[in-house]
This record gives sequence, structure tokens and C-alpha cells, in this order.
Amino acid sequence: MVPSPSANVKPRIHGYDSALMQVDLRESWRIGDVEIPSRLVLAPMAGVSVQAFRRQGRRFGAGLVCSEMVSCAGLSYKNERTLGYLRIAADEHPLAVQIFGAEPGVMAEAARMVEDAGADIVDINFGCPVRKVTKTGAGAHCLEEPARACAIVEAVANAISLPLSVKMRRGLANGSRTCLEIGPQLVDAGAASLTLHPRSAKQMYTGEADHSLTAELVELVDVPVIASGDITSRARAQAVLATTGAAAVMVGRGAQGNPWALREIVDGDDTEPSREEVVAELVLFMRETVRELGEQRATGFLKKFYGWYLGRGRFPRPFKQELVQLQALDEVEQRLFAAAPGARFVLERLQDELPQGEEVLLDLPISIYGGG
Ligand SMILES: Cc1cc2nc3c(=O)[nH]c(=O)nc-3n(C[C@H](O)[C@H](O)[C@H](O)COP(=O)(O)O)c2cc1C
Repeated sequence: MVPSPSANVKPRIHGYDSALMQVDLRESWRIGDVEIPSRLVLAPMAGVSVQAFRRQGRRFGAGLVCSEMVSCAGLSYKNERTLGYLRIAADEHPLAVQIFGAEPGVMAEAARMVEDAGADIVDINFGCPVRKVTKTGAGAHCLEEPARACAIVEAVANAISLPLSVKMRRGLANGSRTCLEIGPQLVDAGAASLTLHPRSAKQMYTGEADHSLTAELVELVDVPVIASGDITSRARAQAVLATTGAAAVMVGRGAQGNPWALREIVDGDDTEPSREEVVAELVLFMRETVRELGEQRATGFLKKFYGWYLGRGRFPRPFKQELVQLQALDEVEQRLFAAAPGARFVLERLQDELPQGEEVLLDLPISIYGGG
């Protein structure tokens, strides 16, 4: 339950002292008995964190990857698409699967399914600010109902033998400090780790993450805390780790179409990827996503990724617009290879390095639970 001593150091520093910021991101730490090989966690992101994203995140240095939020109601109804979120590849461990819901019993049942599917950690979402979720009493709404939140954590903790983590926002209203009241209660109820994204639910993604709250939370609990929000560079990661005492940083938007940001954060390798590397990673991502979601769903899903990969000055803007217009993914691939012919060789090398074929996709969960 306690991270390795060095990762658990609480430096109680509240200034920016560059000498103290040489934090080793490659240090391992623990959530419960799960060892996490680096202090970088890839964020759960709905509509983004597919298996291809998570496997890529692991290759680029994330010590822990997370699924997007999965509806406990969908799991309980054995909804086929929801069950698909429980497909876990052999090379993405350690992996946290995140569930959301408002009923302790249903959440406990969902957590058991997550454990059976082979996840390493069950994460509970108490941070989602989207009305469709909060109006059902789930997500960030739970921060306003500590008794319910604790009942959920307790029910889930009792239902599984995996460690349980909780991800939350600072509270619902701007300026809220609810996370500091509820955080220690969630730990008492059974949470082995807390992730804090210190924006209010009302803020959505505006303004800045206030990591002085993360530092306060670290002081209040004796489990590892993960700092989420606005971590986009090694300098920022080290500053947040050093000034908060968090066990790890979580990276979300900064990694969209940009796994190289993870490498920079973990290893300080700030080499810009070549166009060939960018295209090779994108095509690999596309192929894996097709395998996971099927061609039809993948076609729409992937459109946002073109801009994320090809932006940042890597390719001219009209190129992305051209790709988004294309109907077939084959055509998208052809256009990408035409723009960076050497990418074929980079892709071949990448594929040679990956675990191959069937050994990667564990498709048991769907058949165990009877599909849709
Ligand atoms: C598109 C998108 C989807 C997200 N989905 C989830 C989610 O399913 N579960 C969750 O706990 N947080 C979710 N988040 C929040 C992120 O995990 C993270 O806490 C937040 O984006 C702040 O980190 P960042 O500044 O590194 O992006 C999402 C964020 C984005 C941008």
C-alpha cells in the first residue's frame, strides 16, 4: 500500500528550486502490491484511451496506463460495447480499468468483472464533470455526497482483491476544497491511491490545475497521490513532483497524438520525431484500432487523431483536412505513405518489435460474459 520510500518522500517544498527538481521519473513505486515502473501515468480519456493508445503509452515510458471510464450499469447489463472495454492486451500491464456509477452494489459487481478480465487496478471515477454522468449521481457528483462515495469505495474494496484507486476533481464549484475533506475518508474506506485533477467540475478544462491542492492532499493521506492536470513537459513534471510530494504525474491531453511527449517527460529525450516516425506511429495506431473497434467504428473514431498527430508543425494543415474527408482507411494510409515514403520501413521495424497477433489480444472477457 505504501510506495517505495524514495517515491513516498514528502519534500514539503513550496517554491521552485531547480536543484530539488531533479526527480527521477524512472523510479518505480507501488499502488498496493502492484509495482509501477515509472512515475508517469497515462490518463484515462473517454474516446481516446483505446488499447492502441495504452500500449503505445507503455512503449513510450508510461509506468501505468488506464482505460477510459466504463459504465458499471453497462457492465451489469452485459452491454456488448461496454464489455469490449474489458479487453486487455498482454503487453499493457500494469493497467487500471476505470469504472463509474452511483450504486455501491452495482459498482462492486462491475469491479469483480474488471478483476476477472485481468486488470491490475480498479479505478473509480469521482471526477467526470459531464452532466449526462453527474445527473445520475456518478462522477464528480459523488464528491458532494461523501457518504455515498465512501460506501462505493468500501463495497468495491470488499469485492475485489486488487488494489483500488480513486480519481477526483477538487470539487464541484470553483474554488472548492472538497477533495481535501473527502480524500482521507476515501482512503479510510479502502482507496490505495488517489489521483487529483485540481480543477473544479464547473471549470471543465478551463483555467489551470491548482497543484497547491495536490500538495495539501499529499500531506493528509498516507497512500500515493497522482497529480493530474497540465503536465506537458519534463520540467513541469519535475516541478509538480518536487513541490507536491506526489508519487507520480498523470499526462492526458499532452499525449494525444504525441507519445514523444511521454519519452521527453520520462527520459528527457526531446528529439522531435521525423515525419516518417509520425506516420509510422499513426498507421500502427490506426491498424490496431481497426482490430479493436472494427473498421466502421474506427473510421470515425480516428478522425480526431489525424490533427493531433499531423499538427504541431509536422505537416501542412490542409493535409489533415484532406485525410478527414477520405472515406476509407486504406486511402488514408496510402496518402500518409505518399507523404512520407520512408515510414513503411519504420513501421516494419516497429511491428517487428511488438508482440505479435493473437498473443496480444485476450478476447476472453466477451465470451465469459456472453457478449451482448
Ligand atoms: C477527451 C478527454 C476525456 C477524458 N476522459 C476521462 C475519463 O474517462 N476518466 C477520467 O477520470 N478523466 C478523464 N479525463 C480527464 C483526464 O484524465 C485528466 O485528468 C485531465 O485531462 C487533466 O489532465 P491533462 O491536462 O494532462 O489533460 C478526460 C480528459 C479529456 C481531455
